[in-house]
Amino acid sequence: MYLTSEEERIYEGERGWTLQKAMQILVAIGELNGAERLIPIKSAHVSGASYKTIGDAYEFVERLHGRVAVRTTLNPVGMDLERWREMLIDEDFAKKQRAVLSAYEKLGILAECTCVPYEIPPTRSHLLETSLASSPFRPREGEHIAWSESSAVIFANSVLGARTNMEGAPSALAAALLGKTPLYGLHIPENRNATVKLLICDEISDADFGALGLLTGEIVGDSVPLFEFKGIPSEDELKQLAAGIGATGSVGIFHVKGVTPEAKEDMISEVVHVERSQLRDFLESCGDAGAGVGSSGGGGEPDVVAIGCPHCSLNELRRIYKILKEESKRSRRSKVALPFFIFTARAFRGSEIVRRIENFGVKVFCDTCFVVSPAFERFSCILTNSGKMWRYAPLLSQRRPKVILASTEECVKRAFS
Ligand code: F3S
Repeated sequence: MYLTSEEERIYEGERGWTLQKAMQILVAIGELNGAERLIPIKSAHVSGASYKTIGDAYEFVERLHGRVAVRTTLNPVGMDLERWREMLIDEDFAKKQRAVLSAYEKLGILAECTCVPYEIPPTRSHLLETSLASSPFRPREGEHIAWSESSAVIFANSVLGARTNMEGAPSALAAALLGKTPLYGLHIPENRNATVKLLICDEISDADFGALGLLTGEIVGDSVPLFEFKGIPSEDELKQLAAGIGATGSVGIFHVKGVTPEAKEDMISEVVHVERSQLRDFLESCGDAGAGVGSSGGGGEPDVVAIGCPHCSLNELRRIYKILKEESKRSRRSKVALPFFIFTARAFRGSEIVRRIENFGVKVFCDTCFVVSPAFERFSCILTNSGKMWRYAPLLSQRRPKVILASTEECVKRAFS
């Protein structure tokens, strides 16, 4: 791989051990993937922030020196940084989690602790009025970035038209420190073209998008899919689609006809028809990983409701509040009857919408999520609207809970019954 003379000097260790290690990581990945050179990036997003998943490996991060070269955000950690006691997190875990966070913050990484960095609003003070389009955290079309966290990577590539490979935590951190990434994979326009068309025969909505994402990973392998839907999916539905695809597939981008910026049909060589019934069949066939889709999924009685994987947007919070209000009225209960957790970005902490949701007995936590926190291991049957949580909660919990995937309405309804 070609390196400039400055990059060579970094590689040889003239700018210190930290940058040398970062350069060695990028060169190794670049050479493995046939990259010709490094290219500058605008931002990085680093996963591997929860002590539950990273463990004592964070001590490596503590040994690094210097500052990141571009705006870099961090994925969710293992606890709400303010309300961790309410989550019954023990002191020892909290201490270790704070040490992980400090190690990243010392490098200049912004501890936003969210898996939807593209939804961080431009300013906090006008949270409810500002448009995300102007947020500096939202990559622009054609911009090169180096993000880890599969759901965010796929969303950034597909919906925003930014360019990133599916980085792991070490390569995203190395790219952040150098402000560069190897030029290969999804940084190259030709590799982003759709080659398989998925014609969605029925109208789908809400949790169907997460299920479709899971199924897509199975259907397309490493081909790039172009979806044609009946109707226009919302950004939140595309976020669920991205998260589902990332949970089962190796593809880092999709396109939606008439919606996403790079949707083109010139390179399509195969058309696959997908019916709604296939989504249900697919989930039922996965058995061990989950318990089915829909309100009668056969997954036993849920003992918890969890929403916010990926973290909820403001629109999702507003929608959940509306459904809570309706169900509260219908059921004549003022509070939910099941433990009910919502996960969102810290930007929404203290907002009026969160306060109203919590009035129904729901807990809205920031900085963390059901999957990366040890706080939720006590539950054995989870009801969620997220295809990604359906896949990952059993894999990352020692208790291997059952997971029922259902619409947001169904989740709220069951919480009141
Ligand atoms: Fe985000 Fe946690 Fe889901 S990091 S995508 S809420 S598993």
